[in-house]
Amino acid sequence: MSPEQRHRAGAALPESKDSPAPAAPSTVAPRDSEEFRRAAHEAVDWIADYLRDTRDYPVLPRIQPGDLIDRLPKSGPEQGESMDTILRDFRELIVSATTHWNHPRFLAYFANSASGPGILGELLCSALNSNHMIWKTGPAAAELEQVALGWLRQWLGLGGEFFGNIHDTASTATMHAIMAARETAAPEIRLTGVYPPLILYTSEHANLSVDRGALVTGLGLNRIRHIPIDDEFRMQPAALAAAIEGDLAAGWRPFCVVPTLGTTSSASLDPLPEIAAIARRYGLWLHVDAAYAGPAAVLEEYRHILNGAELADSLVVNPHKWLFTPMDLSILYTRRPEVFRRALSLEETPAYIQTAGSDRAVNFADYALSLGRRFRALKLWFVLRYYGREGIARILREHIRIAHNLACRIQADPDFELAAPVMFSLVCFRFCGSDEQNRALLERINATGRAFLSGTVLKGRFVLRVAIGNIGTTEADVQEVWDMLGKLAKDLAI
Ligand SMILES: Cc1ncc(COP(=O)(O)O)c(C=O)c1O
Repeated sequence: MSPEQRHRAGAALPESKDSPAPAAPSTVAPRDSEEFRRAAHEAVDWIADYLRDTRDYPVLPRIQPGDLIDRLPKSGPEQGESMDTILRDFRELIVSATTHWNHPRFLAYFANSASGPGILGELLCSALNSNHMIWKTGPAAAELEQVALGWLRQWLGLGGEFFGNIHDTASTATMHAIMAARETAAPEIRLTGVYPPLILYTSEHANLSVDRGALVTGLGLNRIRHIPIDDEFRMQPAALAAAIEGDLAAGWRPFCVVPTLGTTSSASLDPLPEIAAIARRYGLWLHVDAAYAGPAAVLEEYRHILNGAELADSLVVNPHKWLFTPMDLSILYTRRPEVFRRALSLEETPAYIQTAGSDRAVNFADYALSLGRRFRALKLWFVLRYYGREGIARILREHIRIAHNLACRIQADPDFELAAPVMFSLVCFRFCGSDEQNRALLERINATGRAFLSGTVLKGRFVLRVAIGNIGTTEADVQEVWDMLGKLAKDLAI
């Protein structure tokens, strides 16, 4: 029975194999043992089959919260178990409780893809287990991070003055950018912890990571101004300038603005050139959230989306969204790396991270909160080399083409309407009915297990989102989703 058939038959999670079983492991930590080699081959074979057959899995697992916990032993094993047993439970228990982001019809959130080269890079990253908190503890990782991020920077059309730095997520990167903005505006906070009345600006449609970044840097939620958006969900520059003027008149201190290229709800583009000019006029730190749409600038015809970014103090882009790099890898580019260093510097640097110092030895721990760092650049380097700029551009173009074709079908169907302009590979639309009907439609299509869509609210109405971006998604996948929606909508209309 294929995974898909099992799903259709309503199979729940398999029974727990509480008892350890077959052969006990030969060593406690199989490293050079034959057992490791055999298990590794088996795991890689499984990965190859999984990548080939991902479409056969239900996108969403048919489980209830707590099901997996209930099926796993209540405490860890006293004696080590064999790799056979562990891999069997992985296949039977873990995979069947997984939402498959790798599924080509995972269209709910901005997609991510564990591409083959990305997976191999990740595997080898674990094997090397490098930690480049300082150059000496991971020269390869420290230097490859500069090389891979330098290549991508060039492909995006950003200037050589941008220094790149890998974080786990855009949320962490944005938090660091707000910290740097604060350091520029009010450096005394580092010592006193006491905030002057600083104000940060972003749009009503900014990702929650901006608010959270302000929250955890101690700014406070009341110090964020959410600037109104226009009819196409873009921050209004005139409203931004007016808000800044109003705050200045009231004695507040504007210090940072965060526009978004590719907002989470509708992939709208805040007008970066105008916002950059305002940031410059008022001396604000400009942090650009290009987490999703940034990679589109690799395409010549989309390069213009970064117009104005040359004035940005910092910019975040997520290869773990639309650049075929497995979770997680987010890049913070900045023209002002020294501000990050200063913001994180201590009165006295502990001896264990003091270095002899060389212009060419970058110590990445100086630029980010975390001391330990994974060798994430390795998987990005694999991806960039394997596909090349042209290969990546071809895939992105295809996603955009598929999205536009879907938009055309929606526009041609009297039962559906587009809810936002299609800027990249996200299509927002709705069934011409009530919010309840649209919510029901979403629930029904997701319950089939054959696709996973999400919803959002635009202009006060509930709309559906089809976010194309998985490396395996084809026109046929999206056509299948569209056909299913048409059929399910007929039942709603009755
Ligand atoms: C525009 C935008 N910015 C930031 C984020 C947060 O990304 P991360 O999950 O890497 O923190 C998202 C997530 O979808 C996003 O859509």
